[in-house]
Amino acid sequence: MDQREAGSVASGTRDLADEKLTEAVLASFDGSRSPRFKEIMQSLIRHLHAFVSEVGLTEEEWFQAIDFFTRTGHMSDDKRQEFILLSDTLGVSMLVVGINNKKPPGATQATVFGPFFVENSPFFENGDDLANGAPGEPCFVEGQVRSVSGEPIAGAHLAIWQADEDGFYDVQYEGLSESRGRGQLRADDEGRFHFRTVRPESYPIPGDGPVGEMLEAADRSLMRPAHIHFMVSAPGYEPVTTHVFEAGDEYLDSDAVFGVKESLITEFVLHEPGTAPDGTELDVPYYTARYDFVLVPSGEADGHGANASEEARTKE
Ligand code: BEZ
Ligand code: FE
Repeated sequence: MDQREAGSVASGTRDLADEKLTEAVLASFDGSRSPRFKEIMQSLIRHLHAFVSEVGLTEEEWFQAIDFFTRTGHMSDDKRQEFILLSDTLGVSMLVVGINNKKPPGATQATVFGPFFVENSPFFENGDDLANGAPGEPCFVEGQVRSVSGEPIAGAHLAIWQADEDGFYDVQYEGLSESRGRGQLRADDEGRFHFRTVRPESYPIPGDGPVGEMLEAADRSLMRPAHIHFMVSAPGYEPVTTHVFEAGDEYLDSDAVFGVKESLITEFVLHEPGTAPDGTELDVPYYTARYDFVLVPSGEADGHGANASEEARTKE
């Protein structure tokens, strides 16, 4: 008899009353090969059993839940990830971001990754137009990448992606052969970057699946406030995945995925037609926005992140 069979016989799995049932299921994970797997599964069982008992889940509700998760799975593939959307809208994604990205004061805070990042987007030079034909009002973005101690980070890498004036990412259009509103840049020797794009618009997260039904049932909005995504990295520093939000957006306090942080909000300043920051003459109004990114040297996180708790566990 192997250890796992012995475990299940010892704890007994017959005729269990509710609280004994929970104990037996917990004990069935005692022989787990990985201590971390055991910790996660036993905690999950405790919380799941407590939740089912607390709400007195009916059999019909339980079948509804199974159907919900089945449809969530069927809707997910390499282009659409309904499970990530579920995690985002339940606030789990931001909880995981928060636990794993504790930053010292002044450092740029992280927020949700979202489903619209694309690997290997085109490289641009500072000053280029990332919109590449995406519809929208011209917008000139600039900033500097610095260390928390204040030094500029020469050559920092920025991956950038955003929605257009209709609230769509390029990947949401059928048959678009080129990237629009996304690209990669390198900061100059003083850590400075600048590019042209279009002003991003607020947009609804995809609402045509089970997550949309859940939000509808809760009378919750699908909307996200206007933002530009940035992933900023440099050798020797912790990378940060974040957004820059437009000040004054009407959805800043009701983001469907709870991703807004005060420190990530900046003014998108409206200008009359005229000479733009890159010297072009524009006969339409345009916007300018500035945001400086502040990175933390690798290994200087404040000790509350996942890596820190992993260290603590291995020292036990
Ligand atoms: C986004 O900002 O791209 C996003 C984040 C979470 C869910 C849907 C979209
Ligand atoms: Fe987005």
